Amino acid sequence: MAAVATPVARPQVRQTTCFIGGEWVPAVSGKMFETIHPATEEVICEVAEGDKADIARAVAAASEAFHNGPWATMDARDRGRLMYKLADLIEAEADELAALETWDNGKPISDSRAADIPLVIDCLRYYAGWADKIEGSTIPIRGDFLCYTRREPVGVVGQIIPWNFPALMAAWKWGPALAAGCTIVMKPAEQTPLTCLRMARLAQKAGIPDGVINVVPGYGPTAGAALVEHPDVNKIAFTGEGTTAKIIQRSALETMKRVTFELGGKSPNVIFADADLDAAVEGAHFALYFNQGQCCCAGSRLFVEDDVHDEVVERIAQRNRQFPVGDPFDPATKQGPQVDQAQFEKIMEYVDYGKQDGAQCVSGGNRIGDQGYFIEPTLFTGVTDEMRIAREEIFGPVLSVLKFSEVDELIERANNTNFGLAAAVWTRDIAKAHRFAAKVRAGTIWVNCYDVFDAAAPFGGFKESGLGRELGEAGLAAYTESKTVTVSLG
Ligand code: NAI
Ligand code: MG
Repeated sequence: MAAVATPVARPQVRQTTCFIGGEWVPAVSGKMFETIHPATEEVICEVAEGDKADIARAVAAASEAFHNGPWATMDARDRGRLMYKLADLIEAEADELAALETWDNGKPISDSRAADIPLVIDCLRYYAGWADKIEGSTIPIRGDFLCYTRREPVGVVGQIIPWNFPALMAAWKWGPALAAGCTIVMKPAEQTPLTCLRMARLAQKAGIPDGVINVVPGYGPTAGAALVEHPDVNKIAFTGEGTTAKIIQRSALETMKRVTFELGGKSPNVIFADADLDAAVEGAHFALYFNQGQCCCAGSRLFVEDDVHDEVVERIAQRNRQFPVGDPFDPATKQGPQVDQAQFEKIMEYVDYGKQDGAQCVSGGNRIGDQGYFIEPTLFTGVTDEMRIAREEIFGPVLSVLKFSEVDELIERANNTNFGLAAAVWTRDIAKAHRFAAKVRAGTIWVNCYDVFDAAAPFGGFKESGLGRELGEAGLAAYTESKTVTVSLG
């Protein structure tokens, strides 16, 4: 890895404490934890380490704001207006937020600028537009009655997010919650608390009332678990690992909290021999290596029809050898470091499993340098369905290629997983594409494209990849309760 100058300036870190009831406050315990830059392992700053006591304060603030504040009962269109204002303020600081994201997470600045922050803004604007369009219905029941439904905010919501798209995950969760009139306690991932805290500052500046958005940085088993247990929290929205979701589900059951989960995957990406191979190779590369492979919907099982298998493998390997991995602040960089030591080690273990299980490593497989968590873009061929690298989520730049020769067998193999988040197919045959879309059990199917996200299009998993949907109208519905009102007209 060439040592390059850092052309994009690192932003100032301003907010490092909890944000509760509109105030910036240290943790009750006084504890702090470090957040690091994964490319250099240097400490960026210390951040307040919230735990149960801070969660209790934040929930009290959110509860007060929900029950007694203006938020849930103000004119819906005005709620939308404040959300548009927040989106505008984020847009005005987009470059600084993108740099902060790159600093905290290690993702390439070109991605933070072109993808993460623009998608944050778009998501908030999309849901701002929903605020005054949340309607009930009138229902023709028997008798002399007027019966109608109201869609009301679910209440105080706890939102627990991961580190792979820190600002974007905050926006996906704030957008529908705010539009519906909920109030929020968010726990960002311990690896990446900084952009969420900055967004909270901007929310206050936009005029969103104090207590509507509260942010408590900290760890999962302390701050996260306390949020899930708290009796005054009405819903938990979580994105992260399946095993964590199961812990949350069990705990949330005690108070019958509503839950939505967006979890992992082992998404099949299928290239048929009749595909536009230039597009398919580029798409398959992007599907896995984007964001250092740290995507819940990564196309991590690449099924290639036997006739074009060798060509596709060679072309992806070739791309890997030329892929610019390095300083994420260099605008030419396409792949930065993994987020932390734990993720780095987990991925390197899977590289070993791949080799032990008999797959061929045709490119990559090694650490790059001895500082920062850089891993070569790695490609395995000769992968079979039962190998660990074909079954388990690696969450890193490791692509497994599986060969197939027949479409029915392919669909069965694609579905042979406990996950069901996404799938994609590359073909010029539209009948084949639609048959695939109908038969593969996953929440999102991409045809001749990958990772096409839009705030208006629902996203979420079948099977163990999740519960409920985010984005679109479905994502909004998950933040409302339906109330039936029956009025005697007699
Ligand atoms: P994780 O599920 O442990 O962490 C996600 C969030 O949950 C963080 O904010 C964390 O503090 C919180 N959390 C952890 N334990 C908790 C608990 N007991 N109660 C409440 N909140 C808790 O995921 P982690 O450890 O960061 O990554 C492990 C693996 O999970 C990754 O290697 C990857 O395979 C998968 N993952 C999937 C993501 C997705 O987008 N679907 C995102 C992040 C990780
Ligand atoms: Mg964990």
